[in-house]
Amino acid sequence: MRKQPDTIHIMNMNKRIPQQFIDDLMSRINIVDLINDFVPLRRSGSNHSACCPFHDEKTPSFTVSDSKQFYHCFGCGIHGTAVGFLMEYERMTFPEAIHELASRANLTVPNETNAENNPKSANLTPLYNLLEQVNEFYQQQLRKHSEASMAVSYLKNRGLSGAIAKKFNIGYAPEGWNNLLQHVGNTNANLLIEAGLSIKKEEKNHCYDRFRNRIMFPIRDTRGRVIGFGGRVLGNDTPKYLNSPETPIFHKGKELYGLFEARKADNHPDRLLVVEGYMDVVALAQYDIQYAVATLGTSATAQHMELLYRHTPEVVFCFDGDRAGIDAAWRALRQTLPTMKSGRQARFLFLPDGEDPDTLVRKEGKAAFEHRISTADSLSTYLFEHLSKNIDLSTLDGRARLAELAQAMIKEIPDGIFKSLLIQELTARTQVNPNTLSKNTRNEEPAAHRQQKSYSNQKEQKTQLTPMRKAIMFLIQNPQLAQHSLDISWLAEHKNTGAKVLLKLLEILHARPHLHTGGILELWSDKKEQQYLSQLACRDILTPETGIKIEFQGLLKLLQTEQQQEKNQALFNNPKPDFLTELSGLNYEERKEFMKTLAKTNKPYEG
Ligand code: CTP
Ligand code: MN
Repeated sequence: MRKQPDTIHIMNMNKRIPQQFIDDLMSRINIVDLINDFVPLRRSGSNHSACCPFHDEKTPSFTVSDSKQFYHCFGCGIHGTAVGFLMEYERMTFPEAIHELASRANLTVPNETNAENNPKSANLTPLYNLLEQVNEFYQQQLRKHSEASMAVSYLKNRGLSGAIAKKFNIGYAPEGWNNLLQHVGNTNANLLIEAGLSIKKEEKNHCYDRFRNRIMFPIRDTRGRVIGFGGRVLGNDTPKYLNSPETPIFHKGKELYGLFEARKADNHPDRLLVVEGYMDVVALAQYDIQYAVATLGTSATAQHMELLYRHTPEVVFCFDGDRAGIDAAWRALRQTLPTMKSGRQARFLFLPDGEDPDTLVRKEGKAAFEHRISTADSLSTYLFEHLSKNIDLSTLDGRARLAELAQAMIKEIPDGIFKSLLIQELTARTQVNPNTLSKNTRNEEPAAHRQQKSYSNQKEQKTQLTPMRKAIMFLIQNPQLAQHSLDISWLAEHKNTGAKVLLKLLEILHARPHLHTGGILELWSDKKEQQYLSQLACRDILTPETGIKIEFQGLLKLLQTEQQQEKNQALFNNPKPDFLTELSGLNYEERKEFMKTLAKTNKPYEG
């Protein structure tokens, strides 16, 4: 076997996870199994397919290839590897995706250099394990602790059934300062602090439990891993609720309580209801409204919105009817506008003053509550009504005022059908010329910011297939072809920019012939070439299976000829002295003739 080319070593130089490990991981993971856990796939021919989880569609155009270890949607153009899928679908960072795949493959990510300088790349498994262990402990305390009867009767008084408490893994943190430390052992003190479960005392080497004498609600990520807790007092002490602080695995602005459970009930719910509290989510689920989620004591962020719309086309915000609820609704609307792409819907539900979903669903039951949901204000109704509140629309001034206020808001919405509809409605309400309105509502978000979305979400641009691109396309989709092209030294001199990529590809595949498409793409994971390569990886090859090898070899021949002609032409344009000596034996006509044939030939000049 050949020596592994140096190029591989330098490729992921600034990445903390060794490339060799990523290669190994890619060869052990099956993208079909992985994606199937998130989006149930159906077998169709040699591929697996589903309705695309990244855009709205009725017929499946999302395909996952077992042989290429690559996914591609013919509808929206999104594509990528197993790592790319986790980054896109689960919004993981690159190291998070690698860790996730590693844990699926029962591999430990090897020592990452600089890990201590970069908390993101740290191994988070012990934290997850600890949180799970503590979650078990709190639930067990609710059953077994000598004072658990207080907690149990509190839950009963609030109407919670045993089944629903179990479903949400509700637990009890007993009174006391060091229950957790005793339970998990002194050696884990630092981990408890890192997990936000213990608080460090001023004097070193001492810590105490954050949650004491509280009902505990475990907060899970979309994968079901416990990442933090919310704890409610049993009585009227303050603060009523205490949440885990930000930790390496818990970020309030990103997580939604109940989303895991909602997804378990229905992977693609028609709508998700956003409520304010833990108890609201649990009570609604008890009444078989299993699509409620709660923000964790904050208002909904843009990240929350993106997360919600990944799972459903419609988000219904639910607010208490009091002043605080009205303010929170307006904040939510402001957050939602920039995320309102076509196909997404948002509505706003205001409950009677003094009620929250918990109290109301217990009073009036599922059907009446769902009736409220289905008749909630649309975003546009809410927007215009809220803005018109103190405006007299019977006057010209009033209508101009509304137009002005609404324009500023509509500007935030990405261009598309939804925005056009809002402008139409604004025209109807204000009788202001629609042209003026659309000019003033253009989304002026700086282009750079708008493009922040990952490349793979854009419909791929079909660039023309030059022989070079075609050769790369053949090779990346059929890595075994590399075995049929061992002499590639000429490629190093080829002027085309694609030649560098092709050469690197061939070198890599000579060293590691078993890499599949997905594995190859991960070698370029932090490079701009990955985009170029993955687009070639999902283009259709029209050549039948049996002709692929011959066509690939033909392409290489063609490229080699091209390169030789170029080289000879260069020699012709700019002759070297020894070449001139050779020519000196010929007369003028002979020289002219010799030079002409040389420029045309693809044979190297070997004088
Ligand atoms: N919250 C919080 N910290 C507080 C109060 C509230 O983080 N001190 C968050 C919690 O997530 C809580 C939500 O805000 O679930 C709503 O608070 P609130 O309406 O006050 O409580 P309820 O959910 O109605 O709680 P309960 O019914 O248990 O009184
Ligand atoms: Mn409540």
